[in-house]
Amino acid sequence: MKVLVTGGAGFIASHTDVELLQAGYEVVVLDNLYNASEEALKRVEKITGKPVTFYKEDIRNEAGMEEIFKKEKPDAVIHFAGLKAVGESCREPLKYFDNNFTGTINLLKVMERTGCKNLVFSSSATVYGIPETVPITEDAPLSVLNPYGRTKLVIEDMLRDIYAADSTWNIALLRYFNPIGAHESGEIGEDPQGIPNNLLPYVAKVAVGELECINVFGDDYDTPDGTGVRDYIHVVDLAIGHIKALEKLATNPGIVTYNLGTGIGYSVLDIIHNFEKACGKTLPYKIVERRPGDAAICYSDPTKAEKELGWKAERGIDKMCEDSWRWQSKNPKGYNA
Ligand code: WQD
Repeated sequence: MKVLVTGGAGFIASHTDVELLQAGYEVVVLDNLYNASEEALKRVEKITGKPVTFYKEDIRNEAGMEEIFKKEKPDAVIHFAGLKAVGESCREPLKYFDNNFTGTINLLKVMERTGCKNLVFSSSATVYGIPETVPITEDAPLSVLNPYGRTKLVIEDMLRDIYAADSTWNIALLRYFNPIGAHESGEIGEDPQGIPNNLLPYVAKVAVGELECINVFGDDYDTPDGTGVRDYIHVVDLAIGHIKALEKLATNPGIVTYNLGTGIGYSVLDIIHNFEKACGKTLPYKIVERRPGDAAICYSDPTKAEKELGWKAERGIDKMCEDSWRWQSKNPKGYNA
């Protein structure tokens, strides 16, 4: 079975490529390399000993995508491609709407025209906005906090409408919580361009000496230690969730939605202390102002994925930090060594 992975050279996608290949799927990657490196795909081939077919292409180029689909005839698509920085989306919403909406609409049109109607979509817990209650189930209220989150929610709505009009589609909406960590080989990992927006890559860069000091965005939240609590999930557990979602699509379920998280919340200080254990260093941090739009607490109820996909996150916070540290210390400047 052949799977086309859009944005396939990215962080979560490259880890999913590994699991796909090791599960016996053929993998075709389409990526414009705007926020990724082709080196990641070479590492995927090194880890698995299997080939990845790669096309440097932009999902906004409908004709270019159609040529690839006609040539490769994928059985299913995992759609990761899109811009994902919350802060940048607030500064440049049109860039996000063009990339994420236009790109996705082009992809869906090409899939429909070429008869490929099996889709796993990379959604996000951000569609829950500031959660009213935790843990969060899939039927929790949906809302958006920023243009990036809006693109995720509107694309989910588009997919629900497409399925309502044509029930021959099979679609899995996967709502990721906070993916961190790296493949245990240390060969692939998170490699954000510039200063990381997210906590874990920032902590890792401080640990490896690339950045000075961790800024803790507020310690006056209503949480055990006052800092923000999130549901961190090992990126390999998340990748395996995509394999389970593909298997679910093979049963013709129509459109299905799953939280992919651990159901466990850790605070910013928990993360820092666990990372100190992993790297064997004391990491400098300072408490600064809250980041606008941040929720105090956000973590999942992942039981629906466990029941319906037979999937459950297995890797704990220690392994997430150990694997992240191994990647960062082996690749202090990411893929652009
Ligand atoms: C985690 C915690 C911060 C950085 C974001 C996106 C979400 C998804 C995952 C794509 C919070 C605190 C952070 C720092 C800090 N991405 N923090 N200092 O905001 O939960 O989710 O990434 O789908 O859409 O919103 O993740 O890692 O940015 O923040 O104190 O330098 O760490 O306040 O409590 P977040 P994050």
